Amino acid sequence: EGQTLEKTHQNFEEFLSTLPRDCGWTPHLDRYLYQGCWYNLFFLKGVIAAQRHFKAQPTDIFLCSVPKSGTTWLKALAFAIVTRKKYSDLSSHPLLSTMPHECIPFLEADFTNRTTTEFPLISTHIPYHSLPKSIISSGCKIVYILRDPKDAFVSLWHFLRKLTPKGVTYISLQEALDLFCKGISFNGPHWDHVISYWKARIEAPQRVLFLVYEKMRNDPLPSVKKLADFIGYPFSLEEENGGCLQKIVDLCSFENLSNVDVNRKGKHRPGAPVAIDNNAYFRNGTIGDWRSHLTPEMAERLDHITKEKFGGAGLPL
Ligand code: A3P
Repeated sequence: EGQTLEKTHQNFEEFLSTLPRDCGWTPHLDRYLYQGCWYNLFFLKGVIAAQRHFKAQPTDIFLCSVPKSGTTWLKALAFAIVTRKKYSDLSSHPLLSTMPHECIPFLEADFTNRTTTEFPLISTHIPYHSLPKSIISSGCKIVYILRDPKDAFVSLWHFLRKLTPKGVTYISLQEALDLFCKGISFNGPHWDHVISYWKARIEAPQRVLFLVYEKMRNDPLPSVKKLADFIGYPFSLEEENGGCLQKIVDLCSFENLSNVDVNRKGKHRPGAPVAIDNNAYFRNGTIGDWRSHLTPEMAERLDHITKEKFGGAGLPL
């Protein structure tokens, strides 16, 4: 304990060689299976560092998701809710000049050099069973966003394609589907990730809130109100009557954020090994876009696994 990853470099290399490895999605980038979840090396190191060093405070609030489920949107909304008194002038709001991922620290990337944060919001793609123990023992609140796995899969395929360097051949949708169904994906298996949090929600409903992307897209206000209540920043009657809730929804809408310059042209984590164009996080934000990409057989295959894994669990999907 207390040793940095660098000091234990040799042990880490040995440890790494014991992990199952796959590069099916991204031939230039291996993924490792650690505690039942696939990570690239950058995030794997971050997960282990967070597990060793991160010290949660009871007031920390975690925004959790399996990638491509609406994380960017959830971050924007939670940030806007928590900081609404400070940034009451929406015309100069930080979300108009800073991409949502830069507004909220990411557990497996931003806590290798620090152990806590002053700001209450932290996001993560780590499945529940691998979260640093102090998050559970401190009783931190957890918000989880859920999305139809078919749309999350299609979104992931497009996202990783954008991240693939020029000259590297990217896999076909069919090959990607085969891997996804086997559980090999970004923080996959997708379904196990969802279930890990759903089990936590069943055990402690007061500690874990589930939001559903499709429900939010169709009718954002009730979910955003629920989110604000749950994280302890409820809207007053005066705020509601003054349209504050609607203003936050409009500020964070796909239509608004995807057109802001920083999200059209900026880069996320410039200089880091995983620098990403911000526009990769904003594709089209529609429900059922899978229909334009998946054959009925492909969709059926995903639905079958979803039914098998989620059936009877009572998930709000
Ligand atoms: P699509 O690829 O289907 O368009 P994540 O943020 O977890 O990486 O998920 C990305 C998905 O959320 C993408 O879906 C993206 O377009 C969509 N998205 C990003 N910002 C959004 C917003 N403000 N409102 C609704 N959807 C959003």
